[in-house]
Amino acid sequence: MPDIESLLSEKRVFKPGKDFARAANWSKKDVAALRKDAAKNPTRFWAKMAKENVSFFSPWKKVLDWKPPFAKWFVGSKLNVSYNCIDRHLEGKNAWRRNKAAIIWEGEPGDKRVITYGELHREVCKFANALKALGVKKGDRVCLYMPMVPELAIAMLACTRIGAPHSIVFGGFSADALRDRIADAGAHVVITADGGYRRGAPFALKEAVDAAVSGDSPVESVVVVKRTGQDVTWKAGRDHWWHDLMAEASTKCPPAKLDAEHPLFILYTSGTTGKPKGILHTTAGYLTHVTTTFKAIFDIKDSDTYWCTADIGWITGHSYVIYGPLANGATTLMYEGVPTHPGPDRWWDVIERHRVSIFYTAPTAIRTFIRLGDEHPKSHDLSSLRLLGTVGEPINPEAWMWYHKVIGGKRCPIVDTWWQTETGGIMISPLPGAVDTKPGSGTLPFPGVDAAILDDDGNEVKPPDGGFLAVRQPWPGMLRGIWGDKERFREVYWSKWKRKGTYFAGDGAHRDKGGYFWIMGRVDDVMNVSGHRIGTMEVESALVSHPDVAESAVVGREDEITGTAVVAFVTPKANVLADDGLAKRLRDHVAKEIGAIAKPKDVRFTPALPKTRSGKIMRRLLRDIASGKETAGDTSTLEDFSVLAKLRGDED
Ligand code: WTA
Repeated sequence: MPDIESLLSEKRVFKPGKDFARAANWSKKDVAALRKDAAKNPTRFWAKMAKENVSFFSPWKKVLDWKPPFAKWFVGSKLNVSYNCIDRHLEGKNAWRRNKAAIIWEGEPGDKRVITYGELHREVCKFANALKALGVKKGDRVCLYMPMVPELAIAMLACTRIGAPHSIVFGGFSADALRDRIADAGAHVVITADGGYRRGAPFALKEAVDAAVSGDSPVESVVVVKRTGQDVTWKAGRDHWWHDLMAEASTKCPPAKLDAEHPLFILYTSGTTGKPKGILHTTAGYLTHVTTTFKAIFDIKDSDTYWCTADIGWITGHSYVIYGPLANGATTLMYEGVPTHPGPDRWWDVIERHRVSIFYTAPTAIRTFIRLGDEHPKSHDLSSLRLLGTVGEPINPEAWMWYHKVIGGKRCPIVDTWWQTETGGIMISPLPGAVDTKPGSGTLPFPGVDAAILDDDGNEVKPPDGGFLAVRQPWPGMLRGIWGDKERFREVYWSKWKRKGTYFAGDGAHRDKGGYFWIMGRVDDVMNVSGHRIGTMEVESALVSHPDVAESAVVGREDEITGTAVVAFVTPKANVLADDGLAKRLRDHVAKEIGAIAKPKDVRFTPALPKTRSGKIMRRLLRDIASGKETAGDTSTLEDFSVLAKLRGDED
């Protein structure tokens, strides 16, 4: 398997600090016992976790019903996610949390809000009633297209309160991308804002919604949060201000008693075709998974201030900004803007001012800060930090060491957590009080997660060989399907190997002699740009939808900051001038079709794409060219492509 070869040989080992280990939610002894139990009977382990960490209105009759690839967890039970995230912190021995901060929010311009659990309860009940007043019923999908403001959290929880699955579309996606996602989910209601703040200036969201719901659209109502105060166009009858709806809404809304498998949310993610997949998560299993992993991996205590920097538009934001933390009664910090506004020390300033104790971010951000210089974090008191985490892409050992030394002051354990939109929650990660860490490794699977590395035939490979990351047993947070596409669900995730019910993650990995996992990145045509998944096919279909483009192929190349950069090879139509102007227009076109995150860094023109005799584009060759010609600038013409193709024509 030449593509999955690890060049790393990392020898450094870091033990959990004694004080940390002593006070950890899961001690070394606990972990050893739990691992033993879970290995014998993973289902029983998860049932124990559900009992400990989740409140049910009525108990399950069966822990797991597994007809590969379809799983049902905690079958027959009834519960409510917003009840677990709010109400239960206002009752009994937890009642003191009524005045505890649930959300500490900071806007990019510096405005702040602290929302207590008691206040969150009132706001969520009110907005749940507002949704009902708009005609939203149990099972109806609601689309959220919002900046990082507290209303986003309130809207999510309000949806869960009445059993309306939400579909959150990241605010950086374009109107076209939003339109597709609204149509696929069949949402009748969109919640948005006039705009949000980014890099010191307001950006518009309502405008994109107007474009996305124009013409033929299932959308009947649009709810608009007033955030920036910018001008918006208004369609009477369809558009409603958030504050107007809230002014009239009652604060009483009992949580719906929902079935364990009731759809909780849909979240779209890129795959290997042009059409994004609507990943479906349901109620009891997802909540059990995120609540348990959050408590164990982030070692949450009532005294902590926890900050995950992810945007809620991604799965990390769903599971570890909102649901995991709030279900644990934690204080979760939300920040609206970019890391470098008004200065390159904004994040460190936030940590110092709020005394953040647990900090979870992405390697791409860490690499950006390394480049900006140590003086910025060093000018702030980061001594409140006690635990650090990373997610989204492999972290290179040098970035890990910098994070450990400069941010963690050598005293904070680092949890490098591997998981996916599809897995719902963390699958592979250190347990910070119990597991020694090695820079660049996610260490070991969470108890109850049967992760393995398999070869093409489904045999487990021996360390240190590389292979495909797989999961051999169902887990509670697993996706239940792709919205509206059973066949694609089966094919993408469950058909790689003969053995039934073996999940194909799409990542390459290897294990070292100690059994530690090292993730090496995607093995399919999905790029990971700044920790965000972008399908090469998606960008290709955006490019060929431009009138000047005949054909295109998109590949990723390594990038120092973003991990991967998008490189587009484009064959323009005859008589089209392939110049810098066209390259810029194409980049803008991709931003319009998908969003700025998918913009190719390089556009390279070529009269033909290299193909095999069977007509398959030789992506491997393109990848080589993309990474080898970094200095060639934006528009190098590669006339020798056809020659290259002939030379290596036998390669398929
Ligand atoms: C990658 C994000 C290495 C991986 C939670 C996976 C990682 C994809 C890690 C999922 C990690 C995530 N180490 N790679 N700790 N975490 N990945 O769906 O390629 O946005 O398949 O979920 O990110 O991205 P997604």
